Amino acid sequence: MLDDMRDGIWQGRVPARIFNDQEIFELEREKLFAKAWCFLAHESEIPKKGDYVTRYIADNSIIVVRDEHGNVRANLNMCRHRGNVMCKSEMGNASHFRCSYHGWVYKNSGELIGVPYFKEGYEGQLDRKQWGLVPIRIDTYAGLIFGTLDPHAPSLDEYLGGFQFYLDIYLKQGANGSEVHGPPDHWIAETDWKICAENFSGDGYHTPVAHQFGFHLGYFPSSGSTHSEGWAVNIPGKGHGIGLGHTPGMPAFFGYPDELVKQMHESLSPEQLEVFSKTRTAVGSVFPNLSFLIQPFSLVPGEPGVRFCTMRLWHPIGPGRMEMWSWCLVPRDASEEYKEAAYKAYTLTFGQAGTFEQDDFENWIKVTKAAGSTLAKNIEFPYVMGLERPQLEDFPGPGHAVSPYVTDTNFRNLWSTWLDYLTREE
Ligand code: FES
Ligand code: FE
Repeated sequence: MLDDMRDGIWQGRVPARIFNDQEIFELEREKLFAKAWCFLAHESEIPKKGDYVTRYIADNSIIVVRDEHGNVRANLNMCRHRGNVMCKSEMGNASHFRCSYHGWVYKNSGELIGVPYFKEGYEGQLDRKQWGLVPIRIDTYAGLIFGTLDPHAPSLDEYLGGFQFYLDIYLKQGANGSEVHGPPDHWIAETDWKICAENFSGDGYHTPVAHQFGFHLGYFPSSGSTHSEGWAVNIPGKGHGIGLGHTPGMPAFFGYPDELVKQMHESLSPEQLEVFSKTRTAVGSVFPNLSFLIQPFSLVPGEPGVRFCTMRLWHPIGPGRMEMWSWCLVPRDASEEYKEAAYKAYTLTFGQAGTFEQDDFENWIKVTKAAGSTLAKNIEFPYVMGLERPQLEDFPGPGHAVSPYVTDTNFRNLWSTWLDYLTREE
């Protein structure tokens, strides 16, 4: 199936089966998540020495920690003695980790420093230096900590390939960047991570339908009829994509306090400001499974909206099954009043019980179930929207940009990149 898929993607066809299939799930684990740069945490989640969170790349549990020197490190959350899970908490602060099985002790940086019965039992035959926790290669961009299991992966900078221009819209909204507002929500969902990653690569098409209550009840400070206007941009060959929806007639930067807009004029480039000033909704994904959304929301129907930002990770745990991780991001230097309003807007929309979240998952769960059914295995979906749409010549940002933003353009690039990973020879 995969060998036949490449031509189909660029002609606008994708097999339904990829969204719920055991074989695909296993290939993704081995050839995609073991090779790509995968999001682990935001630096603001571990601000102090000893702060840690436990996260995953595929099925590997990883401790992300700020060590006693203030450096961020990531180590496999697995004792080197017999493989027990070292750290059983999701988050906390510790200078050392002690294994609950035979009691080996590691510094939070990963060095093995304590071995019970070291003299009596090992009689000098254990070199502690060799048996520290397995380090994971990490790199950061604007507060985002990524890890890769592949020692030969290109640099994170090269991997992002220009998408940093768009990430800055989420991560450099204030003079000192963004921070998480509280710990993430996370929960299991019976849907495939790819359906979500595709949606957040710029699916403006579903918004006026799946989220129509928002328009009807006045929670969207814009008209649904304008939802097709804007840009879709992707980084060819890298899989990253963003939809930038416009609302003509709305003032630039509406939904942000003046103080924050002033800071953005310092932290963003003129080209970024040109893009962002026209944007109402920015919905984008870093390949493979990290997404962001900026969206205005009226806390009181009909009143001016507040912009909130969510960051989400679609973590695959089985074919057609994932763990959803969702954070609220706020500009670090924003007022407490704005942060609280943005958090409230986030919680009501994309928190675990958020209304938009429920709208989306209701659909995504059904798509996943259908994709795994017997007949659907031979069915393809059309990805022909915007097939002939020309690339914008004068777009101020990097990548392949088209307009309007209701298009499958970003998705064809997403599936092509996904296929590159799954079919790549070692
Ligand atoms: Fe950790 Fe034995 S498994 S000390
Ligand atoms: Fe949605």
